[in-house]
Amino acid sequence: MMLAVQVLRLVVCILVLPMFLLNLLGMWRWISKRFFPYFMKEFGVILYNKQMASLKRELFSNLQEFAGPSGKLSLLEVGCGTGANFKFYSPGCRVTCIDPNPNFEKYLFKSVAENRHLQFERFVVAAGENMHQVADGSVDVVVCTLVLCSVNNQEKILHEVHRVLRPGGAYYFIDHVADEPSTWNYFWQQVLNPVWFLVFDGCNLTRESWKTLEQASFSKLKLQHIQAPLSLPLVQPHIYGCAVK
Ligand SMILES: C[S@@+](CC[C@H](N)C(=O)[O-])C[C@H]1O[C@@H](n2cnc3c(N)ncnc32)[C@H](O)[C@@H]1O
Ligand SMILES: *[C@@H]1O[C@H](CO)[C@@H](O)[C@H](O)[C@H]1NC(C)=O
Repeated sequence: MMLAVQVLRLVVCILVLPMFLLNLLGMWRWISKRFFPYFMKEFGVILYNKQMASLKRELFSNLQEFAGPSGKLSLLEVGCGTGANFKFYSPGCRVTCIDPNPNFEKYLFKSVAENRHLQFERFVVAAGENMHQVADGSVDVVVCTLVLCSVNNQEKILHEVHRVLRPGGAYYFIDHVADEPSTWNYFWQQVLNPVWFLVFDGCNLTRESWKTLEQASFSKLKLQHIQAPLSLPLVQPHIYGCAVK
C-alpha cells in the first residue's frame, strides 16, 4: 500500500511539475500568498461556508456564556482569513484578528463592513505561533477554523492560545483532519497531499490534529469527529468543538 502511495504521488507530482519547479525557484510562495486569499473569497462560500453554516451556528451559539462581568465578549480569531465566521459571533462582541498573510486584509475589512453587529478592534499580521502582540490572559474566547491544518507548529499555537486566554476562557475550533488509516479516502489524502499542500498554501490533508488538542493543557475538551457535508471527500473528515482553559 505504501509503495502504491509513493508511486501515485510521484505520478501526480510529475503532472504538476511546473508548480514544483516554481516552488524550487522560490516563486511559488509569492503566487500562492496572493492566489489563496482570492480563492477563499471567491470559492470559500460555495465549497465550504454554505455547507458548514448550520454546524457553525450550533458551535458558536453559546459564545456569550464566556463574556466577562461587563457582558462584553472579547474574541481573538487566529488565522482569520476573509472573516467568514464573523456573522456567527454575538452582537457587541469585540473582535481582534490575526493572520500571517497580509493579502487577506482587503477581504477581511469587507467582512468587517458587512458585520456591523461586531465591534472590530484590530487586524494583526502575525503567525499564531508567536502572538506577543496579545497580552497574557486578555481574551475570553479564541477561535480557529481550518487553521491547524496549515500551521507550522500546532503545539506552539495551542500554547499561545492557552497563554492569551483568561482562566475559564474557551478555544473554539473546526478542522479537517486525516481519515481513518484503513480507508480509501486516507489513501488518496496521502497521494494528493504534496500537491494539495502547494496549491492550498501549506494545507496538510493528513494531520491528526485531535491528538495535539488532547495533549494541550486545557482543563476541559469537548471534541467531536464528523464527516462534514462537503462535496470533496478529501476534506470531509472533521473535528470540531471547544476547549476550556
Ligand atoms: C484555510 S484558511 C481558513 C481561513 C478562515 N479561518 C476560515 O475558516 O475561512 C487558513 C488560514 O490560516 C492562516 N494561517 C496559515 N498559517 C498560519 C499560522 N502559522 N498562524 C495563524 N494563521 C495561519 C492562513 O493565512 C489562512 O488565513
Ligand atoms: C502532513 O502531516 C503529516 C502528519 O503530521 C506529516 O507526516 C507530513 O510530513 C505533513 N506533510 C507536509 C507536506 O508537511
